[in-house]
Amino acid sequence: MVPKTSASNKRVQKSKTPPQKAPRVIRQQPRRLSKPVYRGPIPRVEGPKLDEFPYRGAAIDFRTLLSDPYAEGESHVFEVQMLGQSYALKIFKFYDDEDDDVGLWPSQKEIVSLDMLHAHRDPFYNECRAYGRLKETNLDGKVAVRCHGYTTLPATIEAELEERFDIVGWDRDDYDEPMKKRAVFRAIVKDLVMDDLPLTARVAKKMKRDLWLIRKQGIYPVDIKARNYKRGLLVDFSTAMTEPHYLFEIKPDWQVRMYKNEDLFAFDSMMEDEKVKTSLRAMPNSDYLRKLRSRDYLQKRYGWPRSPQVHLSA
Ligand SMILES: Nc1ncnc2c1ncn2[C@@H]1O[C@H](COP(=O)(O)OP(=O)(O)OP(=O)(O)O)[C@@H](O)[C@H]1O
Ligand SMILES: [Mg+2]
Repeated sequence: MVPKTSASNKRVQKSKTPPQKAPRVIRQQPRRLSKPVYRGPIPRVEGPKLDEFPYRGAAIDFRTLLSDPYAEGESHVFEVQMLGQSYALKIFKFYDDEDDDVGLWPSQKEIVSLDMLHAHRDPFYNECRAYGRLKETNLDGKVAVRCHGYTTLPATIEAELEERFDIVGWDRDDYDEPMKKRAVFRAIVKDLVMDDLPLTARVAKKMKRDLWLIRKQGIYPVDIKARNYKRGLLVDFSTAMTEPHYLFEIKPDWQVRMYKNEDLFAFDSMMEDEKVKTSLRAMPNSDYLRKLRSRDYLQKRYGWPRSPQVHLSA
């Protein structure tokens, strides 16, 4: 079942039109991403998709909170046990798709459907799409922590998570609804990695190779940071841009190049921030660029490199 914000809930309830097959221009279509009772591969738009976790409905034993409860992330991540097996369960905060098309020209709205916008902006779908592509290309588990699919969890777990882990921030906007009408949580199940590796020059070399391999598949992870790696494997694709991506269609080439280079810049910054003893850089001519223009200058002049979310809300 794919959940929805209460806003999109209302929209879906208003629409009596049954779901239809997507033509290329689909602004007149009913919203499909937010339809409940759907358990196939998602998101239901053109491009890569992630399958459902096969043991949906299995009892979940929440063990520990892995993520920082005070970080302004997209999710909360837990160590859990299901059917005797340990996993990392990334439960996403709720996403409000109301303003997805703000800032688009009318001509752009003609070619980018609301479903596509939602699928390319919601952190949950960003991660589904990136992992979908990694699975298609047989790279899941090799360049990123292995993913076992998406799942949904009843709204009732919120009380348990608040009581046990003191977590309240879910950005939910349907608290005024009775419990059984509230949107379900959306989550992604992954291998649990408890024993991390220090970020040495050797590990960094593999990470750089992997990043280029990931990019070659049309996945641009954007948010390359040490905290988004475990044992040299990426864990976080919630800001990833995966082809086909609407911004790559509607923005000028120079801007698309900037979007695509963001993770290379971020990788190089990570080497500096983490003080890795290496001259290794992901950006092919980063030394030259750095000499030519300081990072501050680039940021002021071109807004580049930007924080991962900025362009998404542009
Ligand atoms: N598979 C995993 N095994 C162990 N720990 C994990 C795993 N996945 C995530 N974590 C921990 O949870 C943290 C948050 O995970 P993740 O980066 O996927 O979520 P996020 O909400 O996108 O975070 P942020 O936006 O803060 O980067 C990670 O920094 C890591 O410490
Ligand atoms: Mg993260």
